[in-house]
Amino acid sequence: MSYLETTKNIYKAAAITPDVGLCCTTNPIWELPELKIPKIMQNMNYGCGSTVHARDLTNTPRILYVGVGGGMELLQFAYFSRQKDGVIGVDIVDEMLEASRKNFIEAEAQNPWFKREFVTLKKGDALHLPVEDNSIDVAAQNCLFNIFKAEELKKAIAEMYRVLKPHGRLVMSDPTCEQPMNATLRNDERLRALCLSGSLPIATYVKLLTNAGFGTIEIRARKPYRILDPKHYPTDELIYIESIEVAAIKDPVPEDGPCVFTGKAAIYFGDKDFYDDKAGHILLKNQPLAICDKTAENLSKLNRDDIYISKSTFHYDGGGCC
Ligand SMILES: C[S@@+](CC[C@H](N)C(=O)[O-])C[C@H]1O[C@@H](n2cnc3c(N)ncnc32)[C@H](O)[C@@H]1O
Repeated sequence: MSYLETTKNIYKAAAITPDVGLCCTTNPIWELPELKIPKIMQNMNYGCGSTVHARDLTNTPRILYVGVGGGMELLQFAYFSRQKDGVIGVDIVDEMLEASRKNFIEAEAQNPWFKREFVTLKKGDALHLPVEDNSIDVAAQNCLFNIFKAEELKKAIAEMYRVLKPHGRLVMSDPTCEQPMNATLRNDERLRALCLSGSLPIATYVKLLTNAGFGTIEIRARKPYRILDPKHYPTDELIYIESIEVAAIKDPVPEDGPCVFTGKAAIYFGDKDFYDDKAGHILLKNQPLAICDKTAENLSKLNRDDIYISKSTFHYDGGGCC
């Protein structure tokens, strides 16, 4: 059986019998006015962060969510979009689609603003999305892409790029790992499907996105996720896994390379009111300006004693250069 088949079987089982510990979520349950997340959706939260950010959701965007799980994030997206067919959910596992369909009935009963017709569920594969080219404003996936091996991952990212409109954004949450993992872990189909042994270093993950054509990348959060220890897993050393929230924006790649925001800022503290680098960045005195890693490198090379470049916080929440 291929690892993709194993993955389907695992999520078929997780659709029929909710498995609270399947993925370790690191986000608290949302508390927003008039939003009630049904308990069953909470129990079927198989993600590792959040892909729903209010600032992506202005101007009634058309939203695509791949790998629906229990439907919790689709409900959260619908909270902002509130229109018929505003959110399209795609999943390859019939039982998962059926479970989320049932959960939306429960959500409708608990949320006066929510109508089932806000979400359209479609059977489909992340590797061949049943969605037209250039038709989506915001695409999302949570804890699915890390399962894929190199070829499939490349294809899944290319599919998201294909369906997004120009300047549309792909918002994701996935485990990442900076340590090497041995081949036994990497090739264990079950551990991969459980989002434990497919994760990549952040830089590799980002490179795959920029290679696919995304011109702007935002790392929005980086959090602890899981430990693989020698007592419970086939590894000689303890492995620490994190999860990141990341957005890839379908902007053209600038001539001098993509803009990757990892939470760095530049602070000018010289004698003038501002510093202008003549490359599009004006640093107002004593006001931190969020900058991408490329701009951080260029400013550092100037070796000025009146500009401070902060380290990556991996918490970028908008604004700044580029
Ligand atoms: C780890 S779960 C994440 C579920 C959901 N995103 C969440 O955060 O709770 C992975 C989801 O992807 C679905 N899935 C697995 N392989 C897929 C594929 N090739 N194409 C589309 N969906 C897939 C599974 O059925 C499951 O719903």
